[in-house]
Amino acid sequence: MKLTKKLAALLLAAAAGLLGLSACTDDSGPDTPGTTTQPEKGFAADSVIGVSLPWLGTTNWAEASKLLDSELAAAGFKPTVLQADQKIEVQQQQIESLIEAGAKVIVVGPEDGKSLGTVLEKAKAEGIFILGYDRLLENTNAVDGVVQYGSVDTGREQAKALLAGLAAWKGDGPYNIELFGGGPADPNAPNFFKGAMEILQPKIDDGTLVVVSGQTTFQDCATEAWSADKAQERMDSLLATFYSDKDIDGALSPNDSIARAIITAVQNSGNTDPFPTSGLDSDVLSIEWIAAGTQYSTVDKPAKDLVAKTLELIKILQSGKDLPAGTGTAKNGVIDVQLFELPPVAVTKDNACTVFANDAERFAAAQC
Ligand code: BGC
Repeated sequence: MKLTKKLAALLLAAAAGLLGLSACTDDSGPDTPGTTTQPEKGFAADSVIGVSLPWLGTTNWAEASKLLDSELAAAGFKPTVLQADQKIEVQQQQIESLIEAGAKVIVVGPEDGKSLGTVLEKAKAEGIFILGYDRLLENTNAVDGVVQYGSVDTGREQAKALLAGLAAWKGDGPYNIELFGGGPADPNAPNFFKGAMEILQPKIDDGTLVVVSGQTTFQDCATEAWSADKAQERMDSLLATFYSDKDIDGALSPNDSIARAIITAVQNSGNTDPFPTSGLDSDVLSIEWIAAGTQYSTVDKPAKDLVAKTLELIKILQSGKDLPAGTGTAKNGVIDVQLFELPPVAVTKDNACTVFANDAERFAAAQC
């Protein structure tokens, strides 16, 4: 018995010695700046980081593309930032190419939330970390986390701003309105609509809001591929079909480019009264329209902060640590995905100068 205890003590001492030795080895090894040695966990500080975006057709994606490239490079990584021009197959091929290029993390804003499972699972099998950016990655377990602005909250903010705009610009109700949603393949779009309807449905039920067309489901109101042209065509047709003998007072819009398309259709119909809509993205042109009293509101979700959050997570993964718990989770059809969410902020003429105080271009557009 005594002998066994002694033996155990000896073995423990030997194990501690080994641990000490391996800690020394670690210190001098992989994390040394400028080397490309592969750590046991984590990855080299100058690794390739891939980014796959759906398109550059709206401000958020155009800004994300530039900022991810510059901020990843400034942090010492080798960024490869690609965009798929709204083509699912192109995005799948681009992610393949990022795997081939040896990316250690692939940051993905999916064109279609459900279409990337196979290629993302291939990446995961190679030990690559996958972060969703701005949109959820659905129907796959190959996702480590998603950074985005609260999507249901975004819709709530849009609806509250629409109600405020109707009261400010159209006096007392009831109000005739129409509803627009985003692209059906984008997992954000139904969530924006859901959040908005939480606020609007009770007002439809009590008669404050009248959706004259009767088109109130997301399927009825979605805008294929977020196309502003398609939204304008739908508004032209709604006006011609349902408003020949009545006025329309406002519209729910899922982003700024669609808001401007809706307002343009209303103006083209001969109605040049201020027309309240919601929006999203803080497009510079929409901020100018807000300053001029042509668009009532937008919702601000700065790419700068979302990119900073993405960088923070990439650096944690690089160092070999696990990601911390997120702000919540989302069911993606297969797993509960960790979300790292930032809060969206509604912007009108009243708060534009405060919201854009640190953004020279937008501050100027708001005519502060
Ligand atoms: C983004 C919006 C953008 C829209 C169209 C959404 O997923 O959250 O900011 O306007 O895609 O590109």
